[in-house]
Amino acid sequence: CGIVGYIGKRDVAPLLLEGLQRLEYRGYDSAGIAITGPKATGLKMVKAKGRVRDLEAKVPARFKGTTGIAHTRWATHGAPSDENAHPHMSGDDKVAVVHNGIIDNASELRAKLSADGVEFLSETDTEVLTHLVARAQADTLEEKVREALRHVEGTYGIAVLHADFNDRIVVARNGSPVVLGIGEKEMFVASDVAALVSHTRQVVTLDDGEMATIKADDYRTYTTEGSRTTASPTTVEWEAESYDMGGHDTYMHKEIFEQPDAVDRVLRGRIDDRFSTVHLGGLNLDAHDARKVRRVKILGCGTSYHAGMIGAQMIEELARIPADAEPASEFRYRDPVVDPDTLYIAVSQSGETYDVLAAVQELKRKGARVLGVVNVVGSAIAREADAGVYVHAGPEVCVVSTKCFTNTTVAFGLLALHLGRIRDLSVSDGKRIIEGLRRLPGQISEILKQEDEIKKIAKGYAEARSMLFIGRVRGYPVAREASLKLKEVSYIHAEAYPASELKHGPLALIEPALPTVAIVPNDDLLEKNRAALEEIKARSGKILAVAHQEQEKADQTIVVPKNEDELDPILMGIPLQLLAYHTALALGRDIDKPRNLAKSVTVE
Ligand code: G6P
Repeated sequence: CGIVGYIGKRDVAPLLLEGLQRLEYRGYDSAGIAITGPKATGLKMVKAKGRVRDLEAKVPARFKGTTGIAHTRWATHGAPSDENAHPHMSGDDKVAVVHNGIIDNASELRAKLSADGVEFLSETDTEVLTHLVARAQADTLEEKVREALRHVEGTYGIAVLHADFNDRIVVARNGSPVVLGIGEKEMFVASDVAALVSHTRQVVTLDDGEMATIKADDYRTYTTEGSRTTASPTTVEWEAESYDMGGHDTYMHKEIFEQPDAVDRVLRGRIDDRFSTVHLGGLNLDAHDARKVRRVKILGCGTSYHAGMIGAQMIEELARIPADAEPASEFRYRDPVVDPDTLYIAVSQSGETYDVLAAVQELKRKGARVLGVVNVVGSAIAREADAGVYVHAGPEVCVVSTKCFTNTTVAFGLLALHLGRIRDLSVSDGKRIIEGLRRLPGQISEILKQEDEIKKIAKGYAEARSMLFIGRVRGYPVAREASLKLKEVSYIHAEAYPASELKHGPLALIEPALPTVAIVPNDDLLEKNRAALEEIKARSGKILAVAHQEQEKADQTIVVPKNEDELDPILMGIPLQLLAYHTALALGRDIDKPRNLAKSVTVE
């Protein structure tokens, strides 16, 4: 979900609608806006099920104000509907609240409030908060919010507007991001800098347990207990243009084509040719510590988990440390043994995914060492981790991840090389990997030039009801990610399997109507992979191979440039991003905002 708020002199509704557009990728089943102004006597509100454009259509011409809060929602409690959309207002129309996160004790509080005669208009947990603020006895809005929060268990990022205190917006954060944007005689608030950067690049990120009051010309931060905190603004590096589509029809397309530049950025300034290694400034892991690591455990969700699988493979190969990846939420719920000699690595594009954050917190509580491999600078996971590597992909707006996936795998390549060179990786192997890393941006550009051909291939697959993706060892995580990408964006069912497991079950599915996409790198497993293709062909299965040379058994081959064996997985998934994209396009899907998905899942 996304929050945006403004207080200043400008006409607030268009500003907030624009902010919501920029946040829509975080949730898009309903949206709403509540406004007021110094001369207004109360609050005005409009809400709509659907996209921000549906809200915009409902906003009346005379909806004027200079202060307001707005929200775009991804349903957790209660179905998407006008009523369940945020803001939520109290019965006397004095208080409006927008909220990200989940109130765990909402049903309990709801029962108590109902018993006291409060009438609820929605099924949401947020409405509970609204009534708590409205009923608080305190004299100031800050104290009212504080009092309300005292009853609440759970996670929140909130912004509160009150008709009797219309010179301010009060915000609070616990587990769900809140960023203040500091302007000239105007202030912004948002759950994500994406909504702010076109207006100001001076931001203050709240910590968990922190609140703030913003007025047109002033802001103050303090703890939920009320003691003042110091928060000086920092400058956001990302440019407003990064959030524009830049001539592409979708963000996904734009982000796929940004990959050569993005990879260039993650490498920049990090390679040390003198010692055939890399410098990772934020790592904070000296040679002594690095040698003590006996295992590496990588945790992430969705695409980041798949990037972690490739990362584990590279670390094991280059640094010869046993490494594996696991979905973060599985890890945290199976009561894992936390081992002092294991290096834990949390992977997240947004740095906000609750399942990952909670795993990191649990690990830290048990004394583990946790590194972050994160895209968003200063995000919750980045701050919670002891140290880490930023992946520098720049803002990623499309819900499905492409450039950030690639950059994360490259960041893992750097980390694996670094750990390897501290341990047993030779100078010449270090050099070989460095040269391979340097070739990546150019090779990605080569792959992207094949778009027209891939588009033609994709048309042939748009009819498929289901697809199988196979790969072996280095190719397997590539198959996993390619299958996820296709599912997410085209809604075609897809399943990934290790090629070696084909004969132990999935071979039963093979028939002409089930196409297979096979990852066939030119490495020591080439012959084995070819045998798998033969098994499929013998059962009349249609095959698309992604390989370093034409595959005789395949119906079609997308040939990608060869890099070093260890780094090939970084490249082999790229044509399959385009395959997913063009299949979805042929099917008329909503590419940047697939149904039921959100970019960052900040709730459990
Ligand atoms: C959501 C998104 C996925 C993403 C995952 C992890 O489920 O829909 O595309 O891979 O979260 O996000 P993160 O920001 O932690 O990488």
